[in-house]
Amino acid sequence: MSTASVVERYTQGAQAREEALCCPVDYDRSLLEMLPLEIVERDYGCGDPSRYVQTGDTVLDLGSGGGKICYMAAQLVGEQGHVIGVDMNDEMLALARRHQADMARKLGGDRVTFHKGRIQDLALDLADTEAFLADRRVADTNDLLALEAHQDQQRLSRPLIADASVDLVISNCVLNLVAERDRRQMIDEIFRVLRPGGRVAISDIVADRPIPEALKRDPQLWSGCISGAFHEAAFLEAFAAAGFHGVAYDKWQNEPWQVVDGIEFRSVTLVATRGSTQAERDAGQAVLYRGPYQAVTDERGHTFPRGRRLAVSDRDFERLTGGAYGEDFVGIMPGQPQDAPWTLVHGIARPPGPAGSDGHTDGKSGRGCC
Ligand SMILES: C[S@@+](CC[C@H](N)C(=O)[O-])C[C@H]1O[C@@H](n2cnc3c(N)ncnc32)[C@H](O)[C@@H]1O
Repeated sequence: MSTASVVERYTQGAQAREEALCCPVDYDRSLLEMLPLEIVERDYGCGDPSRYVQTGDTVLDLGSGGGKICYMAAQLVGEQGHVIGVDMNDEMLALARRHQADMARKLGGDRVTFHKGRIQDLALDLADTEAFLADRRVADTNDLLALEAHQDQQRLSRPLIADASVDLVISNCVLNLVAERDRRQMIDEIFRVLRPGGRVAISDIVADRPIPEALKRDPQLWSGCISGAFHEAAFLEAFAAAGFHGVAYDKWQNEPWQVVDGIEFRSVTLVATRGSTQAERDAGQAVLYRGPYQAVTDERGHTFPRGRRLAVSDRDFERLTGGAYGEDFVGIMPGQPQDAPWTLVHGIARPPGPAGSDGHTDGKSGRGCC
């Protein structure tokens, strides 16, 4: 795979619609009505992450292309919200910005900003780097070190996207275009820019089997959002490993979009939440897993048998009842009866027993958050 092939393909795709890059998506048509035709037709998305936008959100769209999802989101965030699009392609940014003044007039406010950046390095402002390079040239390694020092300073003092500044990160068919070696950093960057409690809604392409290296090296297949697809299990795992919770496929396209060498490539929408970073406390709360499964195990390794009241920390209480798990758990406040002796020890719900007396983890409270 090469970044150059991605830049070249989307430079052309910004100038004229490329049919091969278009995956049919059922958008909310009412949100498309005020958008210019050239933005609507140069749509290279594979899902609709705008469905997850809420009033007042600060939204970050990774790989915003012609700006379609940004301008749809801008109608949903309302006057108090803001939408930021990041893309590395000049032509795509030009297409998106060409209509910015007109869209601001239609929206009743300039709620959208487009930045030149790479989604695996959201602190680095590529416009700033270009300004630095305008009157200098990189001719030797000393020049290169000076450039890197400037970039490091910019990341620190004026990050393109600041820590914990975003409510919702969305993306439409972009993560698969990022080099595999950069993907861990990319997901860590998504985590960094989200405020605690912030959400993720990523529409992208996944594969049902590992993709052979020969397909990955094909620039057409890679830039066409095919051979860079995440494996369907690895995509979820990568977000869970980065510390997100409630990681799930909210949308799953049954019919594959493409089948190449017997490998199915389909569109999905992954959702996840960045949890709170506050210290855990025992506030006397408990949860009860409603079912229908006999038991479920969360990403912290805690097992919740169906119908059991289990004591949890305040942070786990907020996590399990806060929306990312839908209605799966009932929240029980202090003072209500609960299975106090059933406490979470090393992630496993244990009945009271002789070992460790009553199974408390802190030896004091009788409730013990794991
Ligand atoms: C398939 S298009 C999707 C565009 C847009 N999200 C949409 O729904 O039409 C991929 C876009 O991601 C951008 N892109 C690819 N890799 C990127 C990266 N590493 N950083 C920033 N933008 C990237 C491309 O320039 C292109 O505009």
